[in-house]
Amino acid sequence: MAEIKIITSLAEMRRTVASITAKRRSSGLVPTLGALHTGHASLIKKARRENDIVIVSAFVNRLQFRKKQFLEYPRTPEHDAEIAAKAGADILFTPREEEIYPKGFSSSVILPELFRTLRHQKLEWHYRGVLTIVLKLFNLVQTDRAYFGMKDPHQLALIERMVEDFNILVKIRRCPTIREKDGLARSSRNLLLTTEERKTAPVIYRSLLSAREII
Ligand code: PAF
Repeated sequence: MAEIKIITSLAEMRRTVASITAKRRSSGLVPTLGALHTGHASLIKKARRENDIVIVSAFVNRLQFRKKQFLEYPRTPEHDAEIAAKAGADILFTPREEEIYPKGFSSSVILPELFRTLRHQKLEWHYRGVLTIVLKLFNLVQTDRAYFGMKDPHQLALIERMVEDFNILVKIRRCPTIREKDGLARSSRNLLLTTEERKTAPVIYRSLLSAREII
C-alpha cells in the first residue's frame, strides 16, 4: 500500500497544488464527508486510473447538516486514511473547520432555478451548503477532474450546473452507485440507522426497481 500524505492546512494545500501545476501533472479530486467505505473506494480507483495525482477530501461540512446530524456524523480519520491509501489516493485533505469557515464567512451558492424544484422538500438550505463547500474545494484544490457518485442525483445535477454557470475548469465525472448485497446504497450515514431501520431501508431500492418495471 502506497504512503498517503495528509494535509490539514490550506497553506500546505496551496503549496501542493502549485507544485502539481508546475510539474504539469493532472489531478483528480474525490470530495467526501469522511467515514469512507467501498463506495468511496470505487470513486478513488476511477480517479487513480485517470489522473497523475489523486486527492481525497474528508470534511464534515456543518453547512449541509442539521445540528444533531452534524454532531452525530461518524468521524473516522485513521480508517479514512487507510481506505484512501488502499484505493490508490496520494493525498488526504482534511481541512480544519476554522480555516474553511473563518469568523465572518458569509457567502453561499444558490441556483434559484434548480432550487425551486427542491423547495417542496425543504432541502434548499442543504444543497446551498453542499454547493458552497464544493465550490470552495474546487478553488482550493484546482483539480482537473472531480468524482461524484450518482446516489444523490440532485446534488450531481446542481454541481454540474454550478460548474457550467461559473465556468469552473473542472470535469465532473459521474460514477455509478455502489450497493450492499440487499440493494441499499452504500453510505456513511447507514452507520446511523438502527437495526430495524437498516432492515427496512432496502425497500427503497426494491420500490425503485418495481417502478422502473411498471414504467
Ligand atoms: O456527497 C457528499 O459526500 C457531500 O455532499 C460532498 C459532495 C462531499 C460535499 O460535502
